[in-house]
Amino acid sequence: MCGIFAYLNYRVPRTRKEIFETLVKGLQRLEYRGYDSAGVAVDGPNSNEKSSSICLVKKRGKVKALDEELYKKDTIDLEAELDTHFGIAHTRWATHGVPSAVNSHPHRSDKNNEFVVIHNGIITNYKELKKYLQTKGYEFESETDTEVIPKLIKYVFDNWESKYVSFSSLVERVIQQLEGAFALVFKSIHYPGEAIATRRGSPLLIGVRSKFDLSTEEIPITYNNTLPKSVFSDIPLKVYDAAGSQESGAGIGNVKHENNEKDANKKQRLNSLTCLYSVGDLKAVEYYFASDASAIIEHTNKVIYLEDDDIAAVAEGKLSIHRMNRLAGDDPSRAIQTLQMEMQQIMKGNFKAFMQKEIFEQPESVVNTMRGRVCFENNTVILGGLKDHLKEIKRCRRLIVIGCGTSFHAAVATRQILEELTELPVMVELASDFLDRNTPVFRDDVCFFISQSGETADTLMALRYCKDRGALTVGVTNTVGSSICRETSCGIHINAGPEIGVASTKAYTSQFVAFVMFGLMMSEDRISLQKRRLEIISSLQALPGQIKAVLALDSKIKELADELYKQRSLLVMGRGFNYATCLEGALKIKEITYMHSEGILAGELKHGPLALIDKDMPVIMIIVRDACYTKCQNALQQVIARQGCPIIICSEDDPESMKNAYKTIEIPHTVDCLQGILSVIPLQLMSFHLAVLRGYDVDCPRNLAKSVTVE
Ligand code: F6R
Repeated sequence: MCGIFAYLNYRVPRTRKEIFETLVKGLQRLEYRGYDSAGVAVDGPNSNEKSSSICLVKKRGKVKALDEELYKKDTIDLEAELDTHFGIAHTRWATHGVPSAVNSHPHRSDKNNEFVVIHNGIITNYKELKKYLQTKGYEFESETDTEVIPKLIKYVFDNWESKYVSFSSLVERVIQQLEGAFALVFKSIHYPGEAIATRRGSPLLIGVRSKFDLSTEEIPITYNNTLPKSVFSDIPLKVYDAAGSQESGAGIGNVKHENNEKDANKKQRLNSLTCLYSVGDLKAVEYYFASDASAIIEHTNKVIYLEDDDIAAVAEGKLSIHRMNRLAGDDPSRAIQTLQMEMQQIMKGNFKAFMQKEIFEQPESVVNTMRGRVCFENNTVILGGLKDHLKEIKRCRRLIVIGCGTSFHAAVATRQILEELTELPVMVELASDFLDRNTPVFRDDVCFFISQSGETADTLMALRYCKDRGALTVGVTNTVGSSICRETSCGIHINAGPEIGVASTKAYTSQFVAFVMFGLMMSEDRISLQKRRLEIISSLQALPGQIKAVLALDSKIKELADELYKQRSLLVMGRGFNYATCLEGALKIKEITYMHSEGILAGELKHGPLALIDKDMPVIMIIVRDACYTKCQNALQQVIARQGCPIIICSEDDPESMKNAYKTIEIPHTVDCLQGILSVIPLQLMSFHLAVLRGYDVDCPRNLAKSVTVE
């Protein structure tokens, strides 16, 4: 979706050039979230701490274009040193309105830029708000949903009942009017050096850097007069008594406010404005606001993940977090977490693209997924995040695995082994379709939500849907602290490391391993399954070495790509455990090469797809030595009989396939249920080489974003 980055330096002098560099670098880290336009808002040249003007620079295209634009403004003194400053920045992936400078963020309240806002998400009631504001004389310049927000805050500010109002009170009132999903950061000429950040449904975190000790991990929420423990060891905390408290649902003018929450929840609300904590007396501090940690980690590893409806305010260097309402059962703390991610983990190294790097990381990433969980000495598997719920899971009626795109394919890939090892029915569902169907869910279902980012809107909504129906919810994500992690009852973190390339690769193989481990954990006490379990566990141990052997085929795959890259279509066929490999391979090819590609279940060949086959149609077949081998050979004969020239991904010892193939990619043999991990890698490499040969930006495919936080 879109990427948000903002930087506030309080009594840490920075030149304007340094500030630009920090903002631009932050955006570059987030570019994978969207990259059709970008913009920043910084203090204008004549601003000082007392009065302020805001300068907006926005540009269509990638962040690089914005970077160049920033230095074209000769009125800006780049060497001017700013003791305290707040700058906001945004990289956009268009949802409402075409990619253009005017549609890009930050959006503004008026020609004087009194309030400017960056937004990630979607405001679903923007049309009503826009209509209302137009009746009040506001003129809109963009086609976006976001623009209602700065206009609305100005309206609230201009009509505030008393002379003074805090910035956070304004934002509180504004977000009451918003429906949909958002992460927002506000800047205003009326509050120089102050920042407000808030979220509902879209991710947002704050990094803190200070010379003070930030080692405390937990910040208890203070209600009324209870003082929390200090986060910064030598700095006292104050209870902040914010103004503007009001009941949820209070409207402005005649704008209809609809609260999405259930009435039952509303009744549990405490109506007073509750302050969580406030850090006082900071002498020098820097704050970084971002959609995810990859933009923050090079500055600080101390971060706070905001929860829905938290309003974080920085004024005079002090950070406080407020909530309008407290729900019974709310987590009474926000933790300052120490990120373990290292900078080199998110750098490209010697690879041409993050995607390529991530493909080559798979020997290590699968080990990281298994680390501390699979014990090869005594053949046990323990998933710490699930062990307390194991009894409940074993008692369930069925397992439902829900995800989108590649994550969904990882669920398809492991369904058969899960059914075998858990002896439970396993439903695998695309999140959007699952919701469209209003699928019946029961209290004794166990629902898994699989998502690399942990933020995919459809998956998140399916999670809330299942939670409302009383099912046990389990998250399987690659992103600690993500919404799916936080909102599920328990989960498995796949530990694949940050995935930056938009096309998911190492997350797929780690998700695959995670589900196999879950099946193994569930079957530990099944005598009849012991032989099978041992076979799988020993194959898991051999997997990293076998992945390396497949990666060594890279130059051969590149040669095949040289032959194929001018084609318009590419079919990928297989069945059984490798059907998911076909779906996933075809998805990789279409998303980064823009070729038409289809994953075809070989068993369905005669029911239609065979009509596509002739001597000119490129086909890749996956034929490995498993229970479907003979049936796959039949499919191969059908393809050859229509003059097809298939490239076959096959086992190393398979003269039958080699004889009939136009070309082969021979991969090591492993147990049937893990073969899909080895067979997908040639397709990942193939898609990468095809995209490079066709001249496309592998990490930033057109029209796509890494984290899809809207429906
Ligand atoms: C394809 C790809 C997407 C994602 C999908 C779900 O390479 O990356 O299909 O798999 O958007 O994303 P997550 O896994 O973050 O929920």
